[in-house]
Amino acid sequence: MKKRLFSGIQPSGEVHIGNYLGAIKNWVGMIDQYDCIFCIVDYHAITIEYDPKEMQNRIIKAAAVNIAAGLDPDKCTLFVQSHVPEHTELAWILNSVTPVGHLERMTQFKDKAKQHRDNINTGLFTYPVLQAADILVYKGEAVPVGEDQVQHIELAREIARKFNQRYGETFPDPQEILSNAPRIMGLDGKTKMSKSRDNYISLVESPESIWKKLSTAVTDENRKRRTDPGNPDICNLFALHKFYSGSEQIERINRACRIAEIGCIECKKTLSENIVSDLAPMREKYEQLIKDKNFIIDILHKGAKKCKSMAETTMSEVKKRMGLV
Ligand code: TYM
Repeated sequence: MKKRLFSGIQPSGEVHIGNYLGAIKNWVGMIDQYDCIFCIVDYHAITIEYDPKEMQNRIIKAAAVNIAAGLDPDKCTLFVQSHVPEHTELAWILNSVTPVGHLERMTQFKDKAKQHRDNINTGLFTYPVLQAADILVYKGEAVPVGEDQVQHIELAREIARKFNQRYGETFPDPQEILSNAPRIMGLDGKTKMSKSRDNYISLVESPESIWKKLSTAVTDENRKRRTDPGNPDICNLFALHKFYSGSEQIERINRACRIAEIGCIECKKTLSENIVSDLAPMREKYEQLIKDKNFIIDILHKGAKKCKSMAETTMSEVKKRMGLV
């Protein structure tokens, strides 16, 4: 029996190269080894302001991008969170074993509360409990995520243990799995690459737009003039070269930047060309997929049907243990 793997992504904006390098690439690599379930977490996405008219498109787009990036629907289960109401049902139950103090410690809540001061809603606060329910309703054990989600997975583990202590052994310990790029910085060089900040390169960004974004991206800020030597160790774009450029190119840039043999523009041009050619097959596949939205919707419905039956089994076990019969 393969171990169960669960992970999710919010349809809250464009899927970007940070999502890919930090999570999706890892998902694709694990698809044969695990029994994989991937979820478009729309209930999480409604905890910040959004336009209801756009949501359906965002969900379909997120699904299409993930399939184009390698989540083969014949090899894994892909579905939408709100299509399986057992997630929110279990979240309510898990709320009753989650100490408020644990939620208050969540750094993502603190960051988002700062970012959305006029909309600090309860959903934003209990967000990690729904995330725990997402994983536990399928008894997920492996959870590949980026670094920003590790605290949430640790909490999911604590919640599972608390439930087990109170009601008897029900859930396994979910374990986070990090990629070799757990935290990709944004093009501003200051904050994590994020869908909600204009600091990302989307997985389906056009070549023109990739160049436009890179040309204004922050590099080594101490390098003021073309003739100044640069320091690749603190250059955010050099970090991206490591994922998109060949070893010879990386070596050359590393050497030539330090002695001002090349300027940032040349370095950015190389990076742009490499990102464009790396993303091209994905973008092409995405363009094809998105032409037939019903095909995507069908995949998501099939996924939800499969997940619903697994989630129902867990819920009846949970309710029985809790005396809710
Ligand atoms: P989300 O939608 O913010 O991001 C999806 C995945 O991408 C990773 N990621 C990054 N990795 C490296 N560098 C970055 N700059 C970067 N930005 C994002 C995230 O860590 C994540 O793995 N709460 C989750 C979704 C979720 C979930 C779950 C995940 C809901 N339920 C259950 C795992 C299990 C989120 O907002 O991901």
